[in-house]
Amino acid sequence: MRLTVYKSRGLVLALAALALLLTAACYNNNTGETNIQSVARFTLPAFPETGSHAVLTFTEMHYSPSYRVQESPRLLPPLDSVPVTGKRIIYTSSEYPSFTVPAEVRASYDAAEAADLFRVNCMVCHGQSMTGDGTMRDFLTRGAAPADLMRGPASTATEGSVFAWISFGGQPGFAMAMIDRESPTVMPQFYQLMTDEEIWTLVMYLKQQSASFSQ
Ligand code: HEC
Repeated sequence: MRLTVYKSRGLVLALAALALLLTAACYNNNTGETNIQSVARFTLPAFPETGSHAVLTFTEMHYSPSYRVQESPRLLPPLDSVPVTGKRIIYTSSEYPSFTVPAEVRASYDAAEAADLFRVNCMVCHGQSMTGDGTMRDFLTRGAAPADLMRGPASTATEGSVFAWISFGGQPGFAMAMIDRESPTVMPQFYQLMTDEEIWTLVMYLKQQSASFSQ
């Protein structure tokens, strides 16, 4: 009898302590970050501090960091070898705006393919309407909201500028890349994820959509 009294008193104390902790805790519904009165802080990797993405929007495997044990041994190229493919040329901030969609991309443009590229890579932030109302907008608690690609600067800027903005993470990302700094935006730097042809295809797609956008 005495034992149960102690037991239940212990339980009440534990519950009270838990209730106190929970009421004192701050929980961020969007990021899952929890802060308990500066005693403990839990962060979820929604905003990883390292890697090529400021925000984990995508769940595909190639975006997740791999562990050494998952990697096969690397075959290193012979010393002094020069890459002949895969090396991206980075132009200057005054060169990009003067570029136009290459003739071969224009010739092989496929609107359905372009729409698919947008759906997979951009829609989550820029939205189906392309005005910046994607699902991710409500979850982005840091930095600028996804840009309106139909009525904003992307609709009036040169093709080359839009190419640069997609490549480096919007206008701020482009400006920073040109002085060798990290992008401050949450938008991925697509030059690391897509070919030039794919980015030019998206430039054409954005231009065509904004030209026929009404509202
Ligand atoms: C994780 C969210 C996210 C994804 C995915 C994303 N963007 Fe963005 N994008 C943004 C944000 C946020 C900005 C505004 C950045 C700023 O100005 O600070 C932006 C800006 C831009 C701009 C510059 C427009 C302007 O008005 O300054 C272009 C163009 C653009 N995005 C195109 C794309 C395209 C094309 C894709 C897909 C290949 C894409 N974005 C994917 C978040 C995203």
